[in-house]
Amino acid sequence: MRRIGLLGCGNVGEIIARKQEGFIIVALYDTAYARAQAVEEMCGAQAYESFDEFLAQDLDIVVEAASVSAVQTHAEAILLAGKDMVILSVGALTDEPFRDHLKACAEKNGKRIYIPSGAITGLDNLKVCQIAEVSKVMLRTTKNPRSLGIEADKPMLLFKGTARDCIRRYPKNINVAVAIELASGHEVEVELWADPGTDRNTHELIVEGEFGDITIRVSNRPSPENPATSYLAALSILTLLRNLDNPIQIGT
Ligand SMILES: NC(=O)c1ccc[n+]([C@@H]2O[C@H](COP(=O)([O-])OP(=O)(O)OC[C@H]3O[C@@H](n4cnc5c(N)ncnc54)[C@H](O)[C@@H]3O)[C@@H](O)[C@H]2O)c1
Repeated sequence: MRRIGLLGCGNVGEIIARKQEGFIIVALYDTAYARAQAVEEMCGAQAYESFDEFLAQDLDIVVEAASVSAVQTHAEAILLAGKDMVILSVGALTDEPFRDHLKACAEKNGKRIYIPSGAITGLDNLKVCQIAEVSKVMLRTTKNPRSLGIEADKPMLLFKGTARDCIRRYPKNINVAVAIELASGHEVEVELWADPGTDRNTHELIVEGEFGDITIRVSNRPSPENPATSYLAALSILTLLRNLDNPIQIGT
């Protein structure tokens, strides 16, 4: 059974802790210690106030479900401490030198960095874009204005441009675009819409290439506790952890 350290005990972390099966969570860390304590009560793993103490535990994998800054601050130490890592706040990896550095740390220590599919699907076969000719990779995300922390009384195009520029203006809404860029190896054109008529977080991915066209539309139910997060993202981490040791690897 893999031993997991949970970095970030918010909405996603709590779902992972509630549904652990096929792995065991042994250590918890959150800058809001009360959050880690709440999850401790739920799943029996130990909450730590100090990150160093958390990392010193006997862990196989640290699952990050915290923030871009948590990845920036802790990922290097986690890999150098000989732990594999799951990164959900994948927006942290837009910084290429940082990404290359983490990759080198993982390689040096024989460790892996896993990027879950998160709030989208289809990242597995999107990797064909790394070897095929591709003319378009576009992501259209639509959310209720509340999820974006704004008010709007009709559908509004908030942003159109590159993922790199989007992250500066809407840092909490870029993980899916970055995951698509990493999987496909191509820059993504991003459209971000606010629509008061929807209660879903919808991602439409449109890809055109020499193999034909791909359209993926994922209409996510927001998590009740945090409307900015999709339940699918938590499920995707649970599925990744459950299948790590499966001798039959599907769609990888
Ligand atoms: N890749 C995807 O598709 C995808 C989907 C959903 C969420 N996410 C990302 O996953 C992360 C977690 O999402 P969530 O909905 O659980 O958020 P949340 O706000 O509900 O919980 C995050 C928790 O992490 C803690 N935290 C923040 N920074 C920290 C740090 N530096 N060290 C330790 N703890 C820290 C917070 O106190 C909070 O308890 C966010 O960064 C979110 O953007 C990615």
